[in-house]
Amino acid sequence: APAVIVAIDGPSGTGKSSTSKAVAAQLGLSYLDTGAQYRAITWWMVSNGIDTDDAHAVAAAADKPEILSGTDPARPTITVDGVDVSGPIRTQEVTSRVSAVSAVPEIRTRITELQRTIAASAGTGIVVEGRDIGTTVLPDADLKIFLTASPEARAARRSGELKGADVHTTREALIRRDAADSSRKASPLAKAGDAVEVDTTDLTLPQVIECVVTLVEEKR
Ligand code: C5P
Repeated sequence: APAVIVAIDGPSGTGKSSTSKAVAAQLGLSYLDTGAQYRAITWWMVSNGIDTDDAHAVAAAADKPEILSGTDPARPTITVDGVDVSGPIRTQEVTSRVSAVSAVPEIRTRITELQRTIAASAGTGIVVEGRDIGTTVLPDADLKIFLTASPEARAARRSGELKGADVHTTREALIRRDAADSSRKASPLAKAGDAVEVDTTDLTLPQVIECVVTLVEEKR
């Protein structure tokens, strides 16, 4: 069978990562977390004293760090210049700066190229999750899913992940990040015309996984 390419996009807190990992594991496919790549390059900028609000400085450094993604859904990894940054890329500092870094066209060009190379070399296929996978990175994907959920549900899920973080603060930060991601000029967060929209507000994670697995199997 030819490799199957699945693109899963949507705002934060819709269950993209949990769903994508589980679907890939269940179907024996590779998995790529593109948000982790943008977080990794943002972590490098912060660690190297680059002002993330200075688009020129960010663009000038876009090609410097080496970013490697491990694509095993059971154990996804991300390294920058050989250093495992899985933990540090989830800090509030990186989270609050990633939208500015990822809006810089030179950053997107660099990371998009990495993503296409990884997708092209995935043997049985790959589940790629992000914001612009169906629209820009892999417009010929076999299946495109756009996950949504109410702001309340998304904030509640994120606060749960952040263990005890205040729901209200999380909600504000999440809305700000989605607004920035949706309004940027370079490949904004958007639903592709041919994407299947799945509203996860009232679904459990196993239900979302089953729904996506069924859609992939229909395409295979
Ligand atoms: O998915 P996650 O929340 O880890 O993504 C972090 C950030 O990376 C997003 O808020 C967005 O700014 C950026 N991103 C992007 N394009 C993607 C994936 C993530 O711009 N395909």
